[in-house]
Amino acid sequence: MSSQTYLSSLFSLDGRVAVVTGGSSGIGRAIAGALARAGASVVIVARKEAQLVATVEELTAEGCRAAWVSGDLGSREGVRTAAERAVKAHGEPDILVNSAGINLRPPMGELSEEVWDSTMAVNLEAPYLLGERFGPGMAERGFGRIIHITSQQAHRAFVRSGAYGVSKGAVESLARSQAEAWSPYGVTCNTLVPGFVPSPLNARLSSDPEMVAALAARTMVGRNGLAEDFAGAAVFLASRASAYVTGQAVFVDGGFSVH
Ligand SMILES: NC(=O)c1ccc[n+]([C@@H]2O[C@H](COP(=O)([O-])OP(=O)(O)OC[C@H]3O[C@@H](n4cnc5c(N)ncnc54)[C@H](OP(=O)(O)O)[C@@H]3O)[C@@H](O)[C@H]2O)c1
Repeated sequence: MSSQTYLSSLFSLDGRVAVVTGGSSGIGRAIAGALARAGASVVIVARKEAQLVATVEELTAEGCRAAWVSGDLGSREGVRTAAERAVKAHGEPDILVNSAGINLRPPMGELSEEVWDSTMAVNLEAPYLLGERFGPGMAERGFGRIIHITSQQAHRAFVRSGAYGVSKGAVESLARSQAEAWSPYGVTCNTLVPGFVPSPLNARLSSDPEMVAALAARTMVGRNGLAEDFAGAAVFLASRASAYVTGQAVFVDGGFSVH
């Protein structure tokens, strides 16, 4: 067997369909690209059309199969509509990546109900509802991969965790509940836990050079994360190779959490 054949038997996503929320920016965009380059037909879901189109054009220019759906995951109706539009592109997904997220960061004492509700809607309810929509079908077909993107704040308070930290902690519990329900049927459910990755999500923090340097110094690798750092871990968790990894939080953080 050639090394290429061996690697393909473990990691190839040929013939798989992946839905990636937040696939138009940052970590989600890098993961959508990684899954597509590994062979999956990818549908990315977010709101802003220009970024969705640019991402899909980049991937299709490389010969990948990619499509986009513009939808707002901030309401239950929006999630349902986006899910039904997403399956029109390549059919029911084998892989679901929940990367869409918001972090509004008001101080805890000033956290409004509106911030609480919108944070829970995008960060927690959308992953839950998409799991309910796609998980049972994956289980029926005998293969599925659900990958959530959580945060250090699922594990520790960190720069005004607030509602965001609560939502991410709950998503880690959601992954375990989904894993418990569907792993016997070939559907693994895990989370990827980033450290600090400069992106539009944390524009205020990432524009403060002292803060950026201090965060890099807290890692073991000696730098902050890049969206591309998630490519290999995402392909692994989406592939056959990770069949016995479920309910786990996989830290892709340069050692931030263990330093
Ligand atoms: N960057 C970090 O340091 C870091 C650390 C820990 C965890 N994370 C997590 O990693 C994930 C990705 O973060 P990122 O840094 O890559 O952020 P990002 O670059 O800001 O990307 C967020 C994505 O979510 C989409 N999105 C936001 N609200 C949405 C809504 N209501 N409906 C549909 N799509 C929506 C955005 O597109 P539109 O705005 O066009 O809708 C965008 O594609 C998030 O879940 C975040 O919590 C990031």
